[in-house]
Amino acid sequence: MEKRRFGRTGLWVSVLGFGGAPIGFLKTDRERVSKILSTLLDNGVNLIDTAASYPGSEEMIAETIGSRRDQYVLVSKCGQKVPGVEGTDWSEKLILDSVDRSLRNLKTDRLDVMLLHSCGLEVLERGEAIAALVKARDAGKVRFPGYSGDNEAVAYAATRREIAVVETSISIADQANIEKLLPIAQQNDVGVIAKRPIANAAWKDPSNQPGMYKSYSQPYTERLEKMGLQPADVGYAAADSHAWPEMALRFTLSFPQVSCAIIGTTNPDNVRANLQYAANGALPADAVAKIRAAFKHADPTGAWPGLT
Ligand SMILES: NC(=O)c1ccc[n+]([C@@H]2O[C@H](COP(=O)([O-])OP(=O)(O)OC[C@H]3O[C@@H](n4cnc5c(N)ncnc54)[C@H](OP(=O)(O)O)[C@@H]3O)[C@@H](O)[C@H]2O)c1
Repeated sequence: MEKRRFGRTGLWVSVLGFGGAPIGFLKTDRERVSKILSTLLDNGVNLIDTAASYPGSEEMIAETIGSRRDQYVLVSKCGQKVPGVEGTDWSEKLILDSVDRSLRNLKTDRLDVMLLHSCGLEVLERGEAIAALVKARDAGKVRFPGYSGDNEAVAYAATRREIAVVETSISIADQANIEKLLPIAQQNDVGVIAKRPIANAAWKDPSNQPGMYKSYSQPYTERLEKMGLQPADVGYAAADSHAWPEMALRFTLSFPQVSCAIIGTTNPDNVRANLQYAANGALPADAVAKIRAAFKHADPTGAWPGLT
């Protein structure tokens, strides 16, 4: 598994990581999660992403791979009310309480990265939320404060000296942050995690999408339709059932400033497939250029923002 430098953290992370949202929101059973996470770790994946607000996700990660804690970079998110944590959203108290709750749920004494979970630019500028994460860092509970979000907010976050890691949407159907964030992240040596890296598998018929993904993936399905993009345009065989997810992941990994792409999955077969796609590396430059051109052609005025 290829590893990339994770900004100025001093860590190196696998290009494929695990996104812990669907195991929580889709209530995936423990045996399945155990299989997914052990297969990933056994094959060199070393970044696991979760959040205080993904129901049961942190607990499930602790139950299934807690005994292998030294083998992965653990990322969680906080900032808004979750069961057991009261207070004003983005306040110091709520953030510090949420850090403690995540440490309990994850049965660990440290989070490698704690991200502010998609607050707006004004919250970042006010400073209290970032200062709260710095306090948690100084108390030894969080190694690196970070921010998860998009557009102007993530571009601003990447300029703050306290922020070592950002997480942002980058995919075939979500390209705004490539221009808005990546050069700034590089300049400030901030680690970049790509969220929604295969565009929520939006090439699927929405009626076949599970649970919350039905509506969540819809804007990406519409964008892909407008782009008129097909894997055959970049050299995949029309009948290749792996073409869409492979093209999607390899596109996201084609940007060297992206340290890790965290795919969310509840399916061990997809885990094995994703490991293979990651091993195939970046797409050739001409394929990346075609996918970039299809996006620009469908959105000539740059009206499609990064979707959180
Ligand atoms: N605001 C935020 O901070 C924020 C927002 C969104 C996401 N995130 C993080 O980013 C992670 C990834 O984003 P995401 O889960 O929304 O989107 P994603 O990873 O782009 O797509 C997930 C979807 O793709 C499917 N899938 C996975 N591998 C596949 C394959 N090989 N072939 C076909 N379908 C495949 C999954 O279905 P199966 O279960 O069937 O595999 C799932 O429905 C999240 O889990 C979360 O950790 C953070």
